[in-house]
Amino acid sequence: MYRSMEQINKLKQYELGYHIRPPKGLLNDPNGLVQYKGVYHVFYQWNQTDTTHQSKSWGHMTTKDFIRWETHQPALEPVDWYDQDGCYSGSAIVFEEKLYLFYTGNVRDANGERKSYQCLAVSEDGIHFEKKGPVLEHPIKGYTAHVRDPKVWQGKDGNWWMVLGAQKEETLTGDALMYQSTNLIDWTLTGSLMDETLSLGYMWECPDVFKLDDKDVFAFSPQGLKAEGEKYNNIYQSGYFTGELVDNGKFVKDEQPFKELDYGFEFYAPQTFSDEVGRTILYGWVGVMEPEVEASVPTRKNGWLHALSIPREVKYENGKLIQYPIAETTHLREKNPVVIKSTQDERITLASLQQDILIEWGSASTDFVIHLRNEIEINYQAATKKLTVVRTNWLTNNKEERTTFLTNDLMELRLLMESSMVEMFLNKGEEAFTLRYFTTETNQSFSFEHLNEKVEKTITSYALRSFIVKNRS
Ligand code: FRU
Repeated sequence: MYRSMEQINKLKQYELGYHIRPPKGLLNDPNGLVQYKGVYHVFYQWNQTDTTHQSKSWGHMTTKDFIRWETHQPALEPVDWYDQDGCYSGSAIVFEEKLYLFYTGNVRDANGERKSYQCLAVSEDGIHFEKKGPVLEHPIKGYTAHVRDPKVWQGKDGNWWMVLGAQKEETLTGDALMYQSTNLIDWTLTGSLMDETLSLGYMWECPDVFKLDDKDVFAFSPQGLKAEGEKYNNIYQSGYFTGELVDNGKFVKDEQPFKELDYGFEFYAPQTFSDEVGRTILYGWVGVMEPEVEASVPTRKNGWLHALSIPREVKYENGKLIQYPIAETTHLREKNPVVIKSTQDERITLASLQQDILIEWGSASTDFVIHLRNEIEINYQAATKKLTVVRTNWLTNNKEERTTFLTNDLMELRLLMESSMVEMFLNKGEEAFTLRYFTTETNQSFSFEHLNEKVEKTITSYALRSFIVKNRS
């Protein structure tokens, strides 16, 4: 098909080079993350034909190095009676050389009523999956049909655990349910993951239980939290408790409150997995938006919508989770970065819109403001360790902001930038901020301005290569 230069530029305007996005249609949650026979598998919720939340399949990509990717046929498609209205989110485990996918079959019956089936599919080559049908049927006494997103793992004793996001019938509040199995087929309900009754929204999606050193973590995505100052400002949130998972399947949480995983605008539905070298890696969906805001994302005109975050290695340090782009991300860096060491304000014209920008201070940073493409503003106040990100909402054209307070003095700020997305990591992952942005400006500037005392910092800006994707249609 012939395309004019202008049309080609329009297609490229918001392109993502090194984030997973669907070839067409809509992507949402990361699913089934696993390393199987040495290969990393990333599945995702995928409406193959349209940029709406209908008819979800599992999209499928694999890689060995997080740079060269292969796309595959969808692993699961909603064609059976138990998943006809969507192969919803779930997880993967490897057992006796086979890859097991657990997911939720979403069904609307003739009266439009929701049914949720927790289903299994098995593969011997990691590419072709044989559906085995439901392993768990609902309803469960005391819970609504909102029960989904199985995350499965093996306990110390060799038995299997499954956690499900759920909603209590009487109170219409979110909950997580635990099941146990010896054979991955027959599952027995052990009860709520937590004995404590928490009032944290009306539904918990995408629960995840994992271990970091000796600390257990329960991460989930509650819907329906009310904004509280700087907290919970997005439509839905994702965050975690730390604590201890006891042998009876109960999670006893530490004193700390629910902590958000990302303080930006649309990071949601994250999932972790542990790879063969023992790293815990997390992907999130970028991401969840108010329906009208989602409907006006300009890439819909190009036939695709949303992306996954960069994979982040997760660690537990000083009572909280640290998230930092996995080491492989640095392999995307081109040679010869721009390096500026100075005490002055700086303005750089970026060579491309795919950049890995690092700012390092030898001693604590003072107040500053960064402007990216005259579109994104990053503001830091050292006295309170307050970090604010401002962007323009592409629907309303109004400025909107998100804020958090760091625990430690700011010593490092890293921006992974694309033409329509930024992920920011502070102090090597103490906090993370993710956001989409859509500017029609061709501006490629980055500026750093001190707001009072000037201190020395080093700015290093690497251009980043795009993924090499085989079979991307
Ligand atoms: C979270 C979610 C999950 C569900 C999936 C459907 O974004 O709503 O709870 O399984 O998306 O696509």
